[in-house]
Amino acid sequence: MTPHAEPPGAGSPDSGTPDSGTPGPATPPTATPRSLVVDRIGLLVSNDPEVGERSDVALVLEDGVVAAVLDAGSTVAADARLDAAGCCVVPGFVDSHTHLVFAGDRGDEFAARMAGAPYVAGGINVTTDATRAASTDELTALARARLAEARRCGITHLEIKSGYGLDVATERRICEAAAALTDDVTFLGAHLVPREWADRPDAYVDLVCGEMLDACAPSARWIDVFCEEGAFDPEQSRRVLEAGRAAGLGLRVHGNQLGFGEGVRLACELGAASVDHCTYLTDADVDALAASDTVATLLPATDFSTRQPYPDARRLLDAGARVAIATNTNPGSSYTSSMAFCLALAVRDMGMTVAEALTAATLGGARALRRADVGHLGLGARADAVVLDAPSPTHLVYRPGMDLIAHTVVRGEVTPSRAS
Ligand code: NIG
Repeated sequence: MTPHAEPPGAGSPDSGTPDSGTPGPATPPTATPRSLVVDRIGLLVSNDPEVGERSDVALVLEDGVVAAVLDAGSTVAADARLDAAGCCVVPGFVDSHTHLVFAGDRGDEFAARMAGAPYVAGGINVTTDATRAASTDELTALARARLAEARRCGITHLEIKSGYGLDVATERRICEAAAALTDDVTFLGAHLVPREWADRPDAYVDLVCGEMLDACAPSARWIDVFCEEGAFDPEQSRRVLEAGRAAGLGLRVHGNQLGFGEGVRLACELGAASVDHCTYLTDADVDALAASDTVATLLPATDFSTRQPYPDARRLLDAGARVAIATNTNPGSSYTSSMAFCLALAVRDMGMTVAEALTAATLGGARALRRADVGHLGLGARADAVVLDAPSPTHLVYRPGMDLIAHTVVRGEVTPSRAS
């Protein structure tokens, strides 16, 4: 039986409700029930050692947090009820790497890659041209529509990077648009040296570390740099990260995506929360990750779309490294918000079990964002959950391409995932 919500009013369409009250929502939620009971859960995966994995339960959500886990059918007063109909409930996906704010389309570039052309970082310039030309209202509307798509895919919290402005005004506009949707905004002025600075890359790094950082830091929690041949070298990357840290931002790195390099070791040395991609790793890189708190965030939909080899998640897990899986939603290298697709690739091609992949896409994402409030359904956690139209998480991988996200619950509010 398919899970369904009662009353229907409890499931208003996602309107781009922000992930957090800070900074404030552009459209405040009005219909959030104070309490919601998700009843008749066949299997609850909580990621919490106290709650554990339980069968035949009801999840009680109050004031936006997890209040209790009771036996299914328990009598408990609530403003709204959701019948899981014996299906599985998991923590909401935490997508710790997205580039949701952009304009334009690069379908032609994807088609050329599928015909044999290589992926090159320079494609970022194409999206930058389109993004600079778009108004702030257009960018905001596009990002809200993509957030709604992400919700329908079970993503309940996400990070959003800038990086398609690459000038002070546009980077600021992107960060401000992103801050209306999430409190995990990342300033990525060091995504690529834009064309107009191509012959003065160090001067562009000065701009990123100075005026651009000053303009963007008030809306951001993180700074990121694309440390890769064709983007920023290790010395430039270090300057960007140290400037961001001095401005009070946490550190993230794009590293080891297109070849071996120093990105991973730089991220670990500087105590970055996450280094993302990690496709090409030496033993020294794996050892550095295992010895650090830096999360290795793997982006398998990117390797699918760019025809890169998949990262070896098994090698990282066996070494003791922390691993997250994220979608990397962007128009160039990974135009999807389907975390289920990422899980399927991780299990099929990266050596992960279903349980490991699910943990990486929930708790792993939360760790990559250094958050304790999301990624699990322990008591007091944010009331972010996914009701699957399936008896277990295995079906997310076993039935690839199927829409098994019946309902996404964000802060105790039900978002219908389907038209019906
Ligand atoms: O994470 N690697 C750098 N940035 C994006 C790709 C951006 C693009 O091609 O537009 C990524 O894959």
